[in-house]
Amino acid sequence: MAPVSSYLKAFVAASAIGIAVRQTGTFVPKAGNFPKTGDDTIAGGIFCISLTDLGTYLSRNPTSGSTSEAPRGTAQATSGSGPYPATSFLDPALPKHTIFAPKTPPPNNVSMPFITFGNGGCGTDPAPFKNFLIELASYGYVIAAVGRAGGIGQSQSLVTNHRDGVDWGYTGKASKYGNVNTTAITTMGQSCGGLEAMSTAYHDERVKRIVMLNIAIFQDERRYLLQEIKVPVAYFIGGKSDMGYTNAEKDYKLLNAGLPAYKANLDTGHGGTYTATNGGKFGKAVVNYLQWQWRDDATAKAILLDPKSTGSLVSDKWTVEYKNWT
Ligand SMILES: *[C@@H]1O[C@H](CO)[C@@H](O)[C@H](O)[C@H]1NC(C)=O
Ligand SMILES: *[C@@H]1O[C@H](CO)[C@@H](O)[C@H](O)[C@H]1NC(C)=O
Repeated sequence: MAPVSSYLKAFVAASAIGIAVRQTGTFVPKAGNFPKTGDDTIAGGIFCISLTDLGTYLSRNPTSGSTSEAPRGTAQATSGSGPYPATSFLDPALPKHTIFAPKTPPPNNVSMPFITFGNGGCGTDPAPFKNFLIELASYGYVIAAVGRAGGIGQSQSLVTNHRDGVDWGYTGKASKYGNVNTTAITTMGQSCGGLEAMSTAYHDERVKRIVMLNIAIFQDERRYLLQEIKVPVAYFIGGKSDMGYTNAEKDYKLLNAGLPAYKANLDTGHGGTYTATNGGKFGKAVVNYLQWQWRDDATAKAILLDPKSTGSLVSDKWTVEYKNWT
């Protein structure tokens, strides 16, 4: 039996990413076992890890490194730095989510891509990500984030909750927030919510991009599932002190041959910079990734790919790697 101290340490670490209940999944990873959908009884779905296994994983894989870029505390919310001041909405048509969108719909010639978002710990209130999500929305995006203030009557979200957001956007329910492009869909999330986003995108051809924040697959025996990921994946990770670091290094290499992928690390640890003003450097990086992907914005592309461009991620102290982009 593990000494009490290491058991406690694992529990505290598990609590820090918000996993509050002991659970095991029904999906059994096994080479060639590709279930129809990414759902599982564990939060985060088939790409995630059960709490029992997480404790073991964390005790065997301690992280170390500095967090020199981590923000101090939570900054005051703004309306974002983009051209369309944004805020959050509760929408009765999607009662277990919070919508982040421009305060007033942008002109009709502004086509807005749609994003779903899963929280750290598969938490059920996106409040910790408010600054970051408002920042994204202010550039003309509509985001359905899992959860709402006060929670949704369950301790963690599941893939089915995340998929409700995709269904809502895809079927045009977001049209009151502006001219939403229902075929330009990204699933995104932080930590457990990132694995939830990947499990939601799995076998769902409506999803065209996946953004993984501070996370990748924990267990080697689940990595074969990456064969079924057919859309570009971007990883924004918090450097060597982030529990997502080693796993993102592995997953990035294992993505299907030829698949465009992006991976950037900033020395923040697992918490990123989401609570900083406008989501800090993670806010800036993800906005520019989205503007490049969805609006073919050459300046944004250069910020991501060209270290010498003005305001490049490299000049912001990100370590960047990418492949297969044209
Ligand atoms: C939308 O139309 C306005 C007014 O004609 C124009 O100034 C703006 O650049 C257009 N925006 C886009 C994204 O096409
Ligand atoms: C909507 O998104 C698709 C990509 O999924 C893109 O090909 C299309 O041009 C977009 N439409 C508009 C009006 O921007």
